[in-house]
Amino acid sequence: MLSPTNAGGQRPAVFGGALGSGALSIALQAVTAAMVLMLLLASGAPSLQRPTSIGRDTADVAAARQRAAGAGASPCTWTPYLLPPEAHQWALGAAREKVVTLVHPMRRHLTAQLAAGVLLQGIDGDFVETGVFTGGTSIIMLQALEKYDPWQTRRHWAADSFQGLPPPEDEDRGGILAEGKPGQFTIGREVFLANVRKWNITGLDARLRILEGWFNETLPGAPIHSISFLRLDGDLYASTMDALEALYDKVSPGGIVYVDDYGSFTGCRRAVDEFRQRRGITGPLMLQGMPDQLFNEPPAAAKWEAAWWVKGPC
Ligand SMILES: C[S@@+](CC[C@H](N)C(=O)[O-])C[C@H]1O[C@@H](n2cnc3c(N)ncnc32)[C@H](O)[C@@H]1O
Repeated sequence: MLSPTNAGGQRPAVFGGALGSGALSIALQAVTAAMVLMLLLASGAPSLQRPTSIGRDTADVAAARQRAAGAGASPCTWTPYLLPPEAHQWALGAAREKVVTLVHPMRRHLTAQLAAGVLLQGIDGDFVETGVFTGGTSIIMLQALEKYDPWQTRRHWAADSFQGLPPPEDEDRGGILAEGKPGQFTIGREVFLANVRKWNITGLDARLRILEGWFNETLPGAPIHSISFLRLDGDLYASTMDALEALYDKVSPGGIVYVDDYGSFTGCRRAVDEFRQRRGITGPLMLQGMPDQLFNEPPAAAKWEAAWWVKGPC
């Protein structure tokens, strides 16, 4: 077959016309392929084969999750990095607000992110905070409900003795972290309520339920049906364990269990480790580092504060 010619009967010149266009095109393709191969090798790409398990469709995702579970990994790996930009912005604002609280702004930020996260993912259930003190983090959780549950379909359960910590027990002692003291963090229910009311949260009366008393008395019979965000802030072994025993089974799949004192109270950490082991919970425990350690010179030993995990199956 004749190749196209110009008016003078010659082939159109391509890059000086030293090669015919068919041969040139093949040569160019070969050079391009070689260059791509070199680039891939230089970038450390492990294989040129198409990945087979990166969720192309539901079946692929399910198969990948099964393989991960078989390898001991958990599919419960939602992270606040997945929040949309608008929710990131909202969580930063919520963490900066001047609520009255003992809780460090980094943990307030994480609380806001996790609260927004379960609501945006549509995880079923109410919010619960065990250990509300002056109300700071409950206010953030209520603000998340105000913003992301405008239909007022979910409640926020605020549990506290309003008499401070109960006496620490043997499990609270002997570690390197805090032990707690009886009556520490005593604040009246009326102070908690007055603080919360200052924020004029829409539908507050419909959303807020207070469980006043010791956790082992109030939580087991509380009429809570399901929980999307369980925020534990009771400091001690028994306070943490009582809350987990009473409420863990009500946390929905994909819901979040957050423990404020995992990095700061000996008994709290023991309770969480024991409970997770006893219940065979293998989903990764996420630890929140303290970024102020970045600026210490020399750097302090690795330190973290809160811990949280996503309840499976996800
Ligand atoms: C560290 S404070 C909570 C801080 C709070 N989340 C904030 O935003 O500032 C601990 C609270 O847990 C409560 N608490 C601890 N153990 C308890 C228990 N077993 N029963 C009831 N309340 C308890 C204390 O009364 C106290 O108000």
